[in-house]
Formats: sequence, C-alpha cells, structure tokens
Amino acid sequence: MMYKSATRDVLAYKLRHVGLREMLYLGYLHISEAILFRANQIFPSLIISPRSIQIETTTRCNLKCTHCEISYWTEPAADLKLPDFERILNHLPKLKRVELTGIGEPFMNRDFFDIVALLKARNVRISMTDNFTMMTEKVARRIIELGVDRIAISLDGATKETFEKVRVGSNFEMVTRNVRRLVELQRELGRRKPEILINFVVTADSFREAPAIVDVAHELGVRVVQLDCVKTFDKTENLATNSEAAEFSASLDKAFERALVHGIIVKWMYFEQNVPIEQCTRAWNRNFVTRDGYVHPCCLTTQTGDRAAQNRRSLGNLVDSPFEEIWNSAAFTTLRKNMKDGVLPYACHQCPSYTGRPDPVGEAQAAAWQPARNVSPAVFIRPERGAEESVAVAD
Ligand SMILES: C[S@@+](CC[C@H](N)C(=O)[O-])C[C@H]1O[C@@H](n2cnc3c(N)ncnc32)[C@H](O)[C@@H]1O
Ligand code: SF4
Ligand code: SF4
Repeated sequence: MMYKSATRDVLAYKLRHVGLREMLYLGYLHISEAILFRANQIFPSLIISPRSIQIETTTRCNLKCTHCEISYWTEPAADLKLPDFERILNHLPKLKRVELTGIGEPFMNRDFFDIVALLKARNVRISMTDNFTMMTEKVARRIIELGVDRIAISLDGATKETFEKVRVGSNFEMVTRNVRRLVELQRELGRRKPEILINFVVTADSFREAPAIVDVAHELGVRVVQLDCVKTFDKTENLATNSEAAEFSASLDKAFERALVHGIIVKWMYFEQNVPIEQCTRAWNRNFVTRDGYVHPCCLTTQTGDRAAQNRRSLGNLVDSPFEEIWNSAAFTTLRKNMKDGVLPYACHQCPSYTGRPDPVGEAQAAAWQPARNVSPAVFIRPERGAEESVAVAD
C-alpha cells in the first residue's frame, strides 16, 4: 500500500488552498533555511537569526488530554504577556513564519488576537493548532479576517467515545460543529485562508479509527488529515502503538484507501527512531520559545511531563536577551557543535526522532541542576519576574 497521497492530488490541493504565490514563497523559505544551515556547518561563527520559530502563547488549557504532557504538570499555568511578546518579536528581526502554539490552548490567552495582529503587521505567516472548544462564530471570523494562514484542528478520535476518552473534558458534537462552521464561514467570506487541517495523534486508544477520521474529514469539508505518532514519556508509555504494529499498519492501509476514495490528502508523520543527529536542522531553523521566553532547540525537547526541568536546560531567554546573544551562548554553541559531531545533546535526550552518542557532560550538568536554581555556565536561569498569573486547569 502506498503511504502517500498522489502527487497530482497534493499539487491540485495546494494550488487551490495555498495558492501558487504562497507555494513559491514557502519553497523559497525552505531553500534559504537549508542553505543557511549548510553555511553554518561550514562557518560555525555565522549567526542565523530565525526566519521560522514556534512560540507558545499560554500554558493554560481547558482539557486534560491523555497523551499531553500538560495534563501531568504540577506547575501553575500562565499566559504569554503582550509586553513580553513585543520584546520577543523585537529580538527576531528576520522572522517570516511562526507556529503560534505550544502546550496549552491558544485562545485562552486574551491577548491572542493582539499577538496575531502584531505578527501580521510585520507580514509574518502564522500557523496554529487548536482544540476547537473555543471556536465561536466571533473567533472564527477574527481568524479569517486577521489572515491566519493555517490552522490544524486536534481531532484525536473519529467517534464520540474515543474522542472524549482521549480529549478529556471536550465534546465531540460541539467541536465538530465548530469545525463545520469555520469551513462554512470561510466559504461565505470567499477566503482561501486559513488552510484547514485535521491533526490526529495516533495512540493505542485511537489508531483503529485512522480510516474513520478520513471519513469525518470528508464530511466536515476538511481536505487534509495529519496522522501524527504519539510522543511518550514515563507516564504515557502505555499509549504507544508499538505492541500493535501489525494491526496499526492494517489500519493505516485502510486510511489511505479511504483517502483515495474521498480525494483527501493524508500525511503520516512517523518519528524514525534511528536518524543520525547530524541530520537534524531544527535547532537552526525551528526553535521553540515557551510562553515565558525560554528558548529550546525545538518543541520535541518537551515530553518530560515537567516544564520546570525542561526550562532548566533551556538555551536562554528571548524576553530578556537578543537572539544573537542566545545563539552565541556556551549552551547553544555546545549544542550545535555536539549535533554536528554526532553527539545527542542532553536537551534532546528524549528526542523521538534522532539518535547519536550520549552526552555525558550534559548529563552530569543536569544532575548538578538540582535544586532548580543552581546556575552553571552552560545553563541559563531566568531571574524571577514577580508573581505569575496562576489559573487552575479546568476539566
Ligand atoms: C499541545 S496541543 C496545543 C494546542 C491545543 N491545545 C490543541 O490541543 O490543539 C498541539 C497538538 O499537539 C498534540 N499533542 C499533544 N501531546 C502530544 C504527544 N504526546 N504526542 C504527539 N502529539 C501531541 C495535540 O494533540 C495537538 O494536536
Ligand atoms: S487541549 Fe491541547 S494543550 Fe490541552 S491537554 Fe489537550 S493537547 Fe494538551
Ligand atoms: S529534540 Fe530531536 S528534533 Fe528536536 S532539536 Fe533535538 S534532536 Fe532535533
């Protein structure tokens, strides 16, 4: 079975829902980032100011999904504050595109649309992922009118039973109604943007519904389904599909059959466990910034079930420092050198994609980070910035 939608279908879809001009622009961005990565491999002193980045707007959430690390955190949730965002933006002069989602539900941040407007004023391309519990008519209109470029709907179940088992606190009928309305509104307003996709995280609880989610997408008028394999840590290991590999493979086959019937594009994002670390470019062109400004090589360095631990090994803080300073820090310089030399940096030790020689120095440093605020030269600890807004997670 071909795990790939027909190239002709993908092209036709892209032309219709993204447009030729945008496709060329994205191609240009992709190529320029690849060239900059290669140039930095040859000239390590070359500073690369990010063209693409991921910024988290909040760690508050109204759900407790079984596969999501936020459901296991103990630290208080809080929003990215607008003045902090403005400082972050000022530290990113070359920014061209942002994934405006981290852990948390983006619309819970009341400043979310101000953040979008600031980015759009700088002509930055915005994509985001959302649980669609807060996608009211008003929100849908603003998303379209402000020109958000791409939105992925998290639908980790094709039936009410599975969806609500995985997305604890959500409601299948309400979420699908909200999706339908966004699709309709976009048609009514005659807008191409945002490109709308379904994101389906494949877990032991949901994998049998991979074919059915393609039918659901068709029924909702969404043309792309991304099947994304679950990233686990100790508390969520039981959600991995490894032990059901054969059954899962059969389910994927059926999903692709359904996709051909409906003309839906299916993307299967599988994390290969054995790609050499030298091939990872994310630290160069997909950095992740937490809602309080901590910079990480990418969003996959999470999955610790513990944000405080993650932040203790961050590369620097983009609210407080220009990106160039963070790029030249001992932590970031060592991380890039390690990756180039085939050493899996300690910050990446949970990586589901890449492998390399372990980093004993990083591990020793990590041990020395206990208790949390023990500063070492390779570790950035942000000074206290006063009381954070603290909101209990509602379910
Ligand atoms: C972290 S959520 C944040 C945005 C929003 N709250 C939502 O659920 O769409 C972004 C996406 O990451 C997915 N996700 C969460 N935990 C994951 C995991 N352990 N492995 C793979 N994807 C995960 C979610 O299902 C969602 O599609
Ligand atoms: S809605 Fe998103 S952020 Fe919230 S628990 Fe679910 S996956 Fe995590
Ligand atoms: S966590 Fe993995 S994908 Fe991310 S930067 Fe590290 S090695 Fe690359």
